[in-house]
Amino acid sequence: MAHKLGIIGYGGMATYHQRRIKESLSDILTVTAAFDIDAERLALAEKSGLKTFDSVEDFFASKLFDIVLVATPNNFHPHYVISALEHGYHVVCEKPVAITVKEFDSMVEASKRTGNVFTVHQNRRWDKDYRIVKKAIETGLIGKPYAIESRVHGQNGVVHGWREFKVAGGGMLFDWGVHQIDQIVDMMNGEKIVSVYANLHSVRTPEVDDYYKLIIRFSNGTTAQIETSTYTLIQQPRWYAYGDGGSLVIDAWDCKGRIIRAKDHMMNWEPVVVQTVAGPTRTMAPRPVETLEEIPLPEADPDWADYYRNVIAAIEGKEELIVNEVNVRRVLQVMEAAFESDRLNAGIACEI
Ligand SMILES: NC(=O)c1ccc[n+]([C@@H]2O[C@H](COP(=O)([O-])OP(=O)(O)OC[C@H]3O[C@@H](n4cnc5c(N)ncnc54)[C@H](O)[C@@H]3O)[C@@H](O)[C@H]2O)c1
Repeated sequence: MAHKLGIIGYGGMATYHQRRIKESLSDILTVTAAFDIDAERLALAEKSGLKTFDSVEDFFASKLFDIVLVATPNNFHPHYVISALEHGYHVVCEKPVAITVKEFDSMVEASKRTGNVFTVHQNRRWDKDYRIVKKAIETGLIGKPYAIESRVHGQNGVVHGWREFKVAGGGMLFDWGVHQIDQIVDMMNGEKIVSVYANLHSVRTPEVDDYYKLIIRFSNGTTAQIETSTYTLIQQPRWYAYGDGGSLVIDAWDCKGRIIRAKDHMMNWEPVVVQTVAGPTRTMAPRPVETLEEIPLPEADPDWADYYRNVIAAIEGKEELIVNEVNVRRVLQVMEAAFESDRLNAGIACEI
């Protein structure tokens, strides 16, 4: 059965959904309508062939769709999600789905009460770089991981539009952090989180965070470090992962990188003291290159459209939702713990 999507908040991200749905999903999904509070955005939506509404009640009453995408600034998500569910629609909400776990719980309650499907566009679970790291870890290419680092280093020192404002749910932890935490939670496959430490800065954006560092500890001892900066003029790699069998790096958005392992018969190399420019060292002496091997990163070719294929299969009762209330709630719990940690200047022990 073909499904139809109506959009609330026809901004930058909404047009991304519209374009990609047209490119990849036109056999099962069509965007038909949009509601926005900005007349200029509605004019653009109309130009692109959508039926437009400047009243949300008229939009809901139109019945031109069976799924609603909520793509407004973050603070409006709970209101529109609950309203759409209550008007009989299935809902895809942009991330971050809510500012608090409490808000999210009320959205889940509305979904259960109405029997309509509700999910969140945590699309970066389908990103190529993420899938490469996940596959490398799952297939044991670096052994048991003890530390995973996920970094997004921007150079521009800007936070755009409503993201600059607290009331809108702005700041980089809500913007990028929610993706990075979601990826790490997904990668660790249900492993419990036992502590969260966070340090947030407002380097160039006074009202909200534009830099954060989080340290998340899992019950198996693995540590995930998540960092984002909008103003890093010398950038570190997008991903590092260290395991007891090797190290992995993905350098940047191009997804290029490598895995380095000690050759089997040279695992237990005994270093000798070397004199480096900085001084003498034995424990940290660079390992001779002949004891190491470089292996390519595993192949991964995820398809963003699989996100919507799963949403539609869930609506039709054929599959379970991939982005579901359990994993989304865990991500929001980590976000809350991170803000609390920053406020208290202390790590937060937890069981998430
Ligand atoms: N998943 C991703 O990778 C990703 C990427 C970018 C943005 N997003 C998310 O998408 C959402 C929208 O972000 P954006 O970048 O498109 O912002 P945007 O500013 O480009 O678009 C927001 C739109 O919502 C409209 N709007 C504002 N208040 C409204 C209201 N009360 N009712 C109806 N419409 C309203 C605005 O007029 C605008 O057209 C945010 O939640 C953001 O976090 C997700």
